[in-house]
Amino acid sequence: MIKHELANLFLHGGDYNPEQWLDYPEVLAKDIELMKEAQINTVTIGMFSWSMLEPEEGNFNFKWLDKIFDEMYSINVSVILGSPSAARPAWMAQKYPEVLRTNNYRQKMLYGGRHNHCFSSKIYRQKIGIMNSMLAERYGNHPALLMWHISNEYGGECHCEQCQEKFRIWLKKKYTNLTNLNNAWWGAFWSHIYTDWDQIESPSPLGESLVHGLNLDWKRFVTDQTIDFYKHEIESIRQITPQIPITTNFMADNLDLLPYQELNYEKFSKYVDVVSWDCYPAWHNDKESTADVASKVGFMDDLYRSLKQKPFLLMESTPSNVNWHPVNKSKRPGMHFLSSLQHIAHGSNSNLYFQWRKSRGASEKFHGAVVGNDNSDKSRVFCDVREVGHALEKISAVSLSTKRSDVAIIFDWENNWALNDSQGFSDKTKCYSKTIQEHYRYFWNKDIQVDVITPSADFSIYKLIIAPMLYLLSSKTIDKLTNYVEFGGNLVSTYLTGLVDESDLTFQDGWPKELKALFGIDVLEYDTYYPSQNNTIEIGDNIFETKDYNTVMNILTAKTIGVYKNDFYKAKPAITENSFGKGQTYFIGSRTDYDFLNFFYEQICGKLGLFNQFIISGDDDVSVQTRQGRNQNFHFIMNFSEKDKNISVLTNSINLLTEKEVGTEIHLSPYEVVILQCQSLK
Ligand code: GLA
Ligand code: ZN
Repeated sequence: MIKHELANLFLHGGDYNPEQWLDYPEVLAKDIELMKEAQINTVTIGMFSWSMLEPEEGNFNFKWLDKIFDEMYSINVSVILGSPSAARPAWMAQKYPEVLRTNNYRQKMLYGGRHNHCFSSKIYRQKIGIMNSMLAERYGNHPALLMWHISNEYGGECHCEQCQEKFRIWLKKKYTNLTNLNNAWWGAFWSHIYTDWDQIESPSPLGESLVHGLNLDWKRFVTDQTIDFYKHEIESIRQITPQIPITTNFMADNLDLLPYQELNYEKFSKYVDVVSWDCYPAWHNDKESTADVASKVGFMDDLYRSLKQKPFLLMESTPSNVNWHPVNKSKRPGMHFLSSLQHIAHGSNSNLYFQWRKSRGASEKFHGAVVGNDNSDKSRVFCDVREVGHALEKISAVSLSTKRSDVAIIFDWENNWALNDSQGFSDKTKCYSKTIQEHYRYFWNKDIQVDVITPSADFSIYKLIIAPMLYLLSSKTIDKLTNYVEFGGNLVSTYLTGLVDESDLTFQDGWPKELKALFGIDVLEYDTYYPSQNNTIEIGDNIFETKDYNTVMNILTAKTIGVYKNDFYKAKPAITENSFGKGQTYFIGSRTDYDFLNFFYEQICGKLGLFNQFIISGDDDVSVQTRQGRNQNFHFIMNFSEKDKNISVLTNSINLLTEKEVGTEIHLSPYEVVILQCQSLK
């Protein structure tokens, strides 16, 4: 049996929770039969197995897992082994209540649910440490072991006394003394001067929640604290199995497919070997088109791929419906194939599902699964999964390829925290992540490949960087942006940029002088509109509507591209362009609709030669994503609409899925995917 290599195969499979069926050997036997049939090559096991692995304190039972490992190996299925910290046995919570969380009301949680543990608890750390070492010792050399899956969707926070103490230690390390802390948190306001570290408490509705510097530091601490717990979890695993890669599954704020807000994944990603994430879009919903949903999925894939600039894993997805959306609709015929291949197109090297077999009881019994209650290979869902399995095998050569983009859009977790916490502007229309998705949409529509990066990324590899709404701007990021443009980069920025520094303090002398130089403008005022109000901007003969935010600004060295038509800043600049060093900057002063973004980026992309060279005539609903191999490109052409579409491409090529040569005119049925393999252009 050949052990799966991560880099020359697409992983296909997903969460397998056989502990639910240990008393039903016939079900486990059926699993084996059906896995072979569905072209499953990977399962993820053990994330929720603690009470089966250690039914009583210190009494371990690995026999059932040994058997599963051996059986998986016997059918050439690799195992991604989970550490079980996300849910604990009842005996542990009963005997050691300290393992449970305390919420921000300082209420101690009862046993139950999952993600309900204190990151500081010494007992919890000790218990998971023992468990993880035993798993690593026992399965580290098992030929089926492919990867570690640490915990499951880390999230949440604990406000117990031990966590408060850790927070204070974290603050002492950061600020050294209370004077520095009081200055950074602007303590003289409302008499909030701390004179003893023990006076500091984590944010709470019962106490302090309006000191923005405190809130921001707490969020930073929660990320560090979670990473610290994760690092503890992997300590023995790394020692015992240095050859096995480690991941933990990241999330989205899934309903809207926005980046998960609670943890700074940019920081977290430094500690995982492979980035993986769980994606659950609301396909076929009643407020968005299929292309709307697809562009959001693409955005999230591009963000998580760009964290490490290498292929990521789609750790979870549903083969049909979920159970936790407000409405849980099934995927229509064709959508499973299309949505699975979309992740591959954006750089995923896997398509994994939650879960393999439907549970019979508890909260997820109606969640989609590969094997349904019919326990057969006849269901529509099973057939859909098998189809994806066959396709992934057919295109396995593509797994060695990567993605390359000339355009980057910046998303910054700290900025998201600070902007959402800010009081002012408008409660409902700050919409930082959503705005980034709107800018991203132009490039998705036009099939221009994009990286979604954070401020810590290497800017120099991009021809164009778009940085909307960077409300919080550290001096380091200002320097990086300045340097980028000085050496020839092109930068787009927008309203609500550069209002506070990394401590969430506003700038003392107005808009930072570095930004004035970079954009050639001075920002005088931010005007916030009620949702039903609009202004218009005029660019030559074109008129565009603005909404929510308008920046009032003066020109220093910039050129005015568009002016406001109304309000007290009528005829003042709304859109500007500035030459700086060898590069160019653009400032969009107002929030606009897509028609402006389309107009604006069309010109910039023309000027910078960013249009997709392979697509001669495309379609907004047909997404083209390219993975680059050594000498060839793999163009994934995906019809995210319910209509037939035609596009034309530069050269004849082979459709990898049918293995037939196709011409330059490509016809796509609704939801169809075509994967074209052709020689690289350059
Ligand atoms: C998450 C979890 C899974 C499962 C799915 C259901 O992603 O990691 O254990 O609960 O949601 O959609
Ligand atoms: Zn705690």
